[in-house]
Amino acid sequence: MSNRFSTLHARSEPLSISQPEKEKPVISEPVADRSEEEADKGFLIAEHESISEVTGTVHSDSVINARIRLHKKIIEELNLVALEKLPQDQMRKEVKDFIRTTARKERMALNINEMEELINDVVDEMVGLGPLEPLMRDPDINDILINGHENCFIEKNGKLQKVHVPFKDEAHLLRIVNKIVVAVGRRIDESQPMCDARMLDGSRFNAAVRPVGVDGPLVSIRKFSKNKLPLKKLVEFGAMTEPMAQVMAAAVHARITTIISGGTGTGKTTMLNALSAFIPEDERLITIEDAAELQLQQPHVARMETRPPNIEGQGEIKQRDLVKNALRMRPDRVILGECRGEEAFDMLQAMNTGHEGSMATIHANTPRDAIGRLEQMLGMTGMPMTVQSIRNQITNAIGLIVQLTRLSDGKRKITSVAEITGMEGEVVQMQEIFKFVRTGIDEESNILGHFEATGIRPRFLEPLSDMGITFPGEYFEPGNASELAND
Ligand SMILES: Nc1ncnc2c1ncn2[C@@H]1O[C@H](COP(=O)(O)OP(=O)(O)OP(=O)(O)O)[C@@H](O)[C@H]1O
Ligand SMILES: [Mg+2]
Repeated sequence: MSNRFSTLHARSEPLSISQPEKEKPVISEPVADRSEEEADKGFLIAEHESISEVTGTVHSDSVINARIRLHKKIIEELNLVALEKLPQDQMRKEVKDFIRTTARKERMALNINEMEELINDVVDEMVGLGPLEPLMRDPDINDILINGHENCFIEKNGKLQKVHVPFKDEAHLLRIVNKIVVAVGRRIDESQPMCDARMLDGSRFNAAVRPVGVDGPLVSIRKFSKNKLPLKKLVEFGAMTEPMAQVMAAAVHARITTIISGGTGTGKTTMLNALSAFIPEDERLITIEDAAELQLQQPHVARMETRPPNIEGQGEIKQRDLVKNALRMRPDRVILGECRGEEAFDMLQAMNTGHEGSMATIHANTPRDAIGRLEQMLGMTGMPMTVQSIRNQITNAIGLIVQLTRLSDGKRKITSVAEITGMEGEVVQMQEIFKFVRTGIDEESNILGHFEATGIRPRFLEPLSDMGITFPGEYFEPGNASELAND
């Protein structure tokens, strides 16, 4: 294990995932006490139940009463219109100050914690995303999925679970959707009922409202995680073995063009980010994404983002435009967040012409399927190309395909690492180097299995060894990885 990847040295070790914050309760109040005016501004008022499954604690009467009183005061005394014009930070501060002073003046029986919770809760409603705020803040929650205001789900620690989020009614949810959309300069309404956007904190946001959202607003949020998982952590989480990680990291370092393949939410972006940490820091990298999620550690990174069409349907900037432009920007490598259309053509050309080591993710279920998808995408460009020439392009461009799968127990794993070795006739030749072997399922529905080397030594070991990177032979011996079995 005497190579320099034996300890997975990334350029600078990316941060590990952060510790969960102390759980925050949601304060609710009885609905009965609501005036018409309040109901109108009423996103301050949540239904009585809180999101107890996620964050919940029970609130004392004093907190509930204080909240009702404060709510009334805010409506009466604060100039909400003026407040809304302030920058977010300042707005937050104004509301906080107001609540603090009022609570002190009125001698509300609140301890410091209750007071803080109250401030947070009211501020969330005023300036933040209301009942969504605690979910947005919880670092263990990856996804928030809402099918109408009474049907909310989260993905927490890899598991999808239903939660009660206290939206008052459909209008309350719609108001929050609007808030998010307007904040990023977009619009959503009946005439334009779908919106895909990046939230101010970098989270990916998609909403579909009536009439396309039959039961009310459909919202999907993929939260932006500030601390992307480094490769080492992914090994610890059982997504792969240490030898697999070392081999892939070395391949990326040595400019073996690598494609990450997987279904939705299988961890493609996370893996792309983790592997990209092994690109040498003297290279110029250009990233192209729909929503800039990647957090590359290198000093020389130029980030580009696509732009959707405006309300009149104009001004769209597509991935293909950006790939073409990137190639005029003297990149060493281009990192494409997700290859899904005609940009595949330019990307493969780049990979074939001096930008080896470029990387992309692809939506596919197996490495073979990933090739098929690429073929389809190349076909979309409308260029007169034979199947043979399309496949030649792919074979020449790509060295390695890393396949990710989210198993039925919610765990994300590398299920295959395959090397593309050439063509035989019209068929792209591929050899699997590592794979995940599923052996069963336990009483708690956890998938049992282990990783295995297939016994094939990848061809790219040769160029790697020319660079002084070698691996112990046993890494590739059949079944060898099984001692590092899945948890
Ligand atoms: N091996 C892993 N173990 C646990 N969590 C993971 C793992 N890989 C990724 N995740 C988490 O899963 C979520 C989805 O990951 P990611 O965004 O990388 O998926 P994706 O395949 O790019 O999704 P999409 O198809 O929506 O673009 C993220 O919150 C990420 O932190
Ligand atoms: Mg992604």
